[in-house]
Amino acid sequence: MARRKIISGVKGMRDILPAQQPLWDKMRKGAEETAAAFGFWRLDTPILEEQDLFARGIGLGTDIVEKEMFTLTTRGRDKLALRPEFTAGVVRAFIQHGLFSLAQPLKLWSLGPLFRYEQPQAGRFRQLRQFNLEVFGAADAILDAQIIQAGFWFFKKIGLKNIILHLNSLGCAKCRKEYRRALLAYYRPHKNKLCADCKKRSRQNPLRLLDCKKEQCQELAQKAPLLVDHVCDDCKDHFKQVLDYLDGLEISYYLDNTLVRGLDYYNKTVFEFFAADEKEGKKNALGGGGRYDGLVKLLGGKDTPAVGMAVGLERVAEEIKKQGVKINGQNQPTVFLIQLGKMAKKRSLLLFEELLRARLAVAESFSRDSIKSQLKLADKQGAKIALILGQQEALDDSVIIRVMETGVQEIVPLVKVIKELKKKLQKLK
Ligand code: HAM
Repeated sequence: MARRKIISGVKGMRDILPAQQPLWDKMRKGAEETAAAFGFWRLDTPILEEQDLFARGIGLGTDIVEKEMFTLTTRGRDKLALRPEFTAGVVRAFIQHGLFSLAQPLKLWSLGPLFRYEQPQAGRFRQLRQFNLEVFGAADAILDAQIIQAGFWFFKKIGLKNIILHLNSLGCAKCRKEYRRALLAYYRPHKNKLCADCKKRSRQNPLRLLDCKKEQCQELAQKAPLLVDHVCDDCKDHFKQVLDYLDGLEISYYLDNTLVRGLDYYNKTVFEFFAADEKEGKKNALGGGGRYDGLVKLLGGKDTPAVGMAVGLERVAEEIKKQGVKINGQNQPTVFLIQLGKMAKKRSLLLFEELLRARLAVAESFSRDSIKSQLKLADKQGAKIALILGQQEALDDSVIIRVMETGVQEIVPLVKVIKELKKKLQKLK
């Protein structure tokens, strides 16, 4: 009979296999500890949101909204999208649940999957995961610096070194208007040299011309007028304060005039994190963020300043591997429970639970019937002690304690097993 065709996973979406879980645990734990250390509350939002939320929030002309959203229409004709980022959904929840009435600044963090219909390649997937931080209700530059500090704290926690910060200020709507004019005037005589996407960008959001990865456009971007020369005094002062705070933290930065970010909601500070060897050609950022003081209002809430950032965990995982950061494997069992015979097998399920309740790291392989193969496994998993419950022991309400290293065995009554085990383990330390 012909074998059935195997169904593979969806393009650009990867499984995280058991062997990779310790690395992911390290990142998840690092994220949780960083968020707690800096006073963030966890917020989980749904994976599906209204398409309009992202169109309005991230911006109609952006690559994310125009080309990369996974969209669907429900049976009830609702137009939904798989979230391509956290920020818009977090802002929606902030407004919808009246979180602005809580003490501000309100710090919220999230972790989970996001979806972008990109061409899959190294560091670019269709399902990605982010560790995301947002702060609402403070315009003070100290929070821009603190968000960046939290990013570095996370990288340090998970053992990454040599992370570089790229930084820029996009100014406010007022100063950007003037800059837009200067930028368009500069690009006008070069219009024919631009790629097709940039021709469109020059109409929708000329700032994004600076961000194009194509060589011909990057060359032009290098000589374009600088945004810093056009920001107003308020924005200049705000940016200077951010730099002062970073200096105080001894965080070095690279002032990057072409850093504009791919989402429309930013104003003032924007930044991205890179691994040191990635800085040339500005390929794949490990994370990025910035200030978005207008987004809450744009999505129907009260005027609320905000700043945030997200780290892409797939890219961070690659960097962890590249830097050879040590990852602890799954916890080793200290006790391996072996059973032999029908009655012992039945009794061993309960004994296993008793051992768990006594907080012992215990492992088993109940589906195996041979003592030899169970002992082999206990050895392979590095257990210090094997507990052997045979037919006779099950009848006598006793159990054999075997020290794996020496092979020395001792029979103890079942009622005393926990006490005896703990005593033995103490000696083996
Ligand atoms: P973003 O720059 O679009 O920002 O994404 C943040 C990070 O997610 C990137 O630096 C990258 O590490 C990762 N990432 C993005 N796309 C992909 C992909 N296709 N495959 C793998 N990793 C990817 C945001 O999403 C903003 N919402 C961040 C933010 C929060 N700004 C303010 N608050």
